[in-house]
Amino acid sequence: MPKVGVLTGGGDCPGLNAVIRGVVKSAEGKYGWEAIGIEDSFEGLILPGKTVRMTSASIRGILPQGGTILHSSNRSNPFEYPTTVDGKTVVQDVSRSVIERFKELGLDALVAIGGDGTHRIANRLYDIGLPVVGVPKTIDNDIRATDVTFGFNSAITTAMEALDKLHTTAASHHRVIVVEVMGRYTGWIALESGIAGGADVILIPEIPFEIDAVCAKIQRRAERGSNFSIVVVAEGAKPMGGEVSIQKRGGKGKGMDRLGGIGEKVGDQIAEKTGMDVRVTVLGHIQRGGSPTAFDRILATRFGCKAMSMVQKGEFGRMVCLRGTEVTSVPIHEAISDYKWVPLDSGLILTAQAIGICMGT
Ligand code: F6P
Repeated sequence: MPKVGVLTGGGDCPGLNAVIRGVVKSAEGKYGWEAIGIEDSFEGLILPGKTVRMTSASIRGILPQGGTILHSSNRSNPFEYPTTVDGKTVVQDVSRSVIERFKELGLDALVAIGGDGTHRIANRLYDIGLPVVGVPKTIDNDIRATDVTFGFNSAITTAMEALDKLHTTAASHHRVIVVEVMGRYTGWIALESGIAGGADVILIPEIPFEIDAVCAKIQRRAERGSNFSIVVVAEGAKPMGGEVSIQKRGGKGKGMDRLGGIGEKVGDQIAEKTGMDVRVTVLGHIQRGGSPTAFDRILATRFGCKAMSMVQKGEFGRMVCLRGTEVTSVPIHEAISDYKWVPLDSGLILTAQAIGICMGT
């Protein structure tokens, strides 16, 4: 029986287990392949003892579960893998041993479920001989080649529910509440959750903001009797002429810079300039957790089944994607060429502005 390996890489998101289930069930039931789970992203192909046989029976019940049963990591890049030599951490290229391990395990194909980082690695491994199919995930929805990623709908639903709750307390206390949401490079989460949750101000990385415009909006509302406001700010938003807020710097083999702090900065400035009572809420990883929405379960299942059909046909070096209503695929190198920014003339921004939401300018 041919064998397909499955791994999940990068930050987790709701729907990963639904993809795994789609691959395993269709591998077993439709194509007659054996599915092998590879744990902790590419680390499962670097270190021994990190694989598990998956069957329909062994994965029973995972569809509604958040996270990933295979666990994940964004520090297991085989091309820059941190190892300890003589008590010191050195970054090494262990990609050739990944290929060897893949062969030792008797695998015929790999399905790599991840974001842009995972796909960059998958594409480099494909270039040196690994038969891989990619499946895009991220709550940030910033992968260009697909109209939408699973995980995004669940994240904006979580953020929207938080905004609903914050509204009632903001209104009760005549306060401004600033809500920092995820969105490293792009503002999809802030924009869509902000519209769904009735935000008054939405600040996204694509539109550097002017704090005076934000304060003017809040003051106008107060003058008209709405003595409270909700400001949604993406973690990657920055002021005009300023920089993103970094909480902790990453480094080679240590992952990316950790963003955070823009909510506090915006909150402090609003308090200073308007004299209003301000509170700041950082939603953080709550947005990545929990059970996937129906939309994400369906999309993730479609992606998993499509990935397995591509494996069966030998369509390697490609990533599954959604175009309109059709699940199709693109070469991985095309998918990772750039991020999917929120277009400044997008209908979503125009809609937000039409109902009076301040976009920071
Ligand atoms: O890419 C998804 C994301 O949630 C980003 O919005 C955020 O910057 C990052 O992951 C956080 O990653 P970590 O969990 O490694 O801190």
